[in-house]
Amino acid sequence: GIIILDFGSQYNQLIGRRIRELGVYSEVLPFNTPLQEILEREPSGIILSGGPSSVNVENANLVEKALFEQNIPVLGICYGMQLMTHLLGGSVKKGIKGEYGKAKLQIQKSNRLLSGVGRFSTVWMSHFDEVETVPPGFVINGTTDVISAISDETKKIYCVQFHPEVSHTEEGWRMIENFVFNICEAPKNWKLTNYIDTAIAHIKETVGDQKVILGLSGGVDSSVAAVLIHRAIGDQLQCIFVDTGLLRKDEGRKVMENYGEHFNLKIDMVDAADRFLAKLEGISDPEEKRKIIGNEFVAVFDEESHKFEGAKFLAQGTIYPDVIESQSVKGPSAVIKSHHNVGGLPEHMKMELLEPLRELFKDEVRKVGEELGIPHHLVHRHPFPGPGLGIRILGAVDAEKVRILQEADDIFIEELYKNKLYDTVSQAFVVLLPVKSVGVMGDERTYEFTAVVRSANTTDFMTATWSRLPYEFLDTVSNRIINEVRGINRVTYDISSKPPATIEWE
Ligand code: XMP
Repeated sequence: GIIILDFGSQYNQLIGRRIRELGVYSEVLPFNTPLQEILEREPSGIILSGGPSSVNVENANLVEKALFEQNIPVLGICYGMQLMTHLLGGSVKKGIKGEYGKAKLQIQKSNRLLSGVGRFSTVWMSHFDEVETVPPGFVINGTTDVISAISDETKKIYCVQFHPEVSHTEEGWRMIENFVFNICEAPKNWKLTNYIDTAIAHIKETVGDQKVILGLSGGVDSSVAAVLIHRAIGDQLQCIFVDTGLLRKDEGRKVMENYGEHFNLKIDMVDAADRFLAKLEGISDPEEKRKIIGNEFVAVFDEESHKFEGAKFLAQGTIYPDVIESQSVKGPSAVIKSHHNVGGLPEHMKMELLEPLRELFKDEVRKVGEELGIPHHLVHRHPFPGPGLGIRILGAVDAEKVRILQEADDIFIEELYKNKLYDTVSQAFVVLLPVKSVGVMGDERTYEFTAVVRSANTTDFMTATWSRLPYEFLDTVSNRIINEVRGINRVTYDISSKPPATIEWE
């Protein structure tokens, strides 16, 4: 397959996904993975990703120069291009203003990477430093305001300053295909149906006749993991569903219906709402709420799992982006989102981990889910944060506010489905503000809470824009919430992007 060395670009997972969509296995490894380890994997090609650092600083993130002498094709993207230039004898200077956003690439001299790409095309740039002189043996293939594509074809080494993996780069697809198939000649060896068969065989072999427990949340990852494992070992799998009381309206009932009845999973449903609410009483600090909910979750799960003494494996819906994030060396500043749905489990729950999705990207997990017969609307659910409504009710949480928010949120989501808008946005929900304002209903003056309708569009949840939902639609949602939900008399729409706002309000 193709190995992507991760220098911390927010786009590196995208490169991996693009390559897998072409049917070729790809793997993202930290940039400082020893060369020996890389070679043991016998890669067809290597990509050096972008990253926030500069080659001209002390302790710059480097790779061993010998990497370029293995007769393995290498593609450097953005920082990867600067790094190769720096290591192979060219020079990189600080840009004056940098380039961010779209730029016009002009081909000076085509090569195998740019084969079929028009003489002028739009590319996506995001860099500060720039290549000043190219290394000996290299040719300049394309320019924007700066040198933007270079190569040494005799050594199968290619570099681009722009990001071919981003959809704003018009012909980026073609470049990635050129690299993967024409330059690396990578075999098409990645197929999700094969993955399912292999995973099932592997689960059977690992588990034998032992028992497995799994925390089912109703979210995509744990559900797909559960159905996959169930396919392999049937009732040796015991799921535990913790109803924190901070979930969406009727979530518990729906999970029992969808997975308990339809898929025949054994689910132990724990109604722990009172416990969570008691622990949260009077607490308004978001981080404190997160901690309380996380700890309580672990406590409940731990207690519950004692019912299934003797289970040898703990299954989790860990997916590849979780793995990449936890192995990444980019340091805490760049890790904007490090949340985990299920916090660490206590030491004494000494079980072996079973993580059958840990090699898959999210869209692949969804495909596997559909392949296993899970309905489209379930595998395409928006992400839902572990602390749930606990962080969507601003300030202190109580049962009444949870009820109000569940009702309002349910209306919004229902309308999104009804108007075929759900799949066009990445995450949508309602936030309840503990702010009361005056309204009028019939002849009565009202004095009630404020709801915020929030919907974000994003590919990576690191940056996001607010969804341009139609006014008519928002009008319907607003009317329904105010008319149907006792406790809310005002609805607002959040038009903040991330950054500087975040998707959630807490
Ligand atoms: P923000 O609000 O940081 O959210 O823009 C980015 C994504 O992360 C989710 N999120 C969480 N998920 N536990 C989680 O499991 C959390 O504490 C948490 N906080 C935010 C959020 O829903 C969005 O998808």
